[in-house]
Amino acid sequence: MRIYIPFYSRGGNTESMAKYVAEGVRQVEGAEAILAFVGDPCTPEEIRKDFDAWHQTHERLMDEYPRATIEDLAECDGACFGSPTRYGNAAGPMRNFFDMMGPLWVEGSLEGKPAGCFTSSNTMHGGQETTIFTMWAPIAHLGMIIVPLGYIIEEIHTTQFGGTPYGPSHVAGRNADRPVDETEATICRALGKRVTEIAVKLA
Ligand SMILES: Cc1cc2nc3c(=O)[nH]c(=O)nc-3n(C[C@H](O)[C@H](O)[C@H](O)COP(=O)(O)O)c2cc1C
Repeated sequence: MRIYIPFYSRGGNTESMAKYVAEGVRQVEGAEAILAFVGDPCTPEEIRKDFDAWHQTHERLMDEYPRATIEDLAECDGACFGSPTRYGNAAGPMRNFFDMMGPLWVEGSLEGKPAGCFTSSNTMHGGQETTIFTMWAPIAHLGMIIVPLGYIIEEIHTTQFGGTPYGPSHVAGRNADRPVDETEATICRALGKRVTEIAVKLA
């Protein structure tokens, strides 16, 4: 089982979540988690360079991860898509990645494959669920099988920060520097494991 984890991250929070989602994938014997950075075709480099932390994180992610491609996505058995929350919506680079999937839609390459979504935002009520919902729309058009979490693990009942029945979330705080806590990490792992287990059943 090959589970693709394309993510966008400007500050590293969604990247941290993606790593925990990958751990959950690997909890299923024989499963491979493939992390891939979608890059940032939406922001002119000179603008990014005006923000040191943004620019440095972007350069690091470009070095550390392969670029997400629709070809690699098409070859996988399932996927988990991660994006920061942007005004209650997915970030431009992730939406651009969905926009590039036209050929996969035409060919039906993703039909019947399971997919889940995760997000990080500064505030607890700042649009995490709507961000996951907006990523569900293109996933539905592509014919993928949307995988929510429900309340499959106790942590979704008890979390004091991120984690929703729709998918994992993380509350980064006002300065976007609050690390993913152990409860949020457990919920991330639960998504990776669940998408993989469903991919196994479907295969
Ligand atoms: C343009 C922009 C819009 C944002 N919109 C929201 C928002 O609607 N709600 C919220 O709580 N946080 C919002 N944030 C904060 C980010 O979602 C948050 O810092 C997140 O942790 C960033 O993830 P990253 O570190 O992976 O880039 C916004 C940030 C930016 C730059």
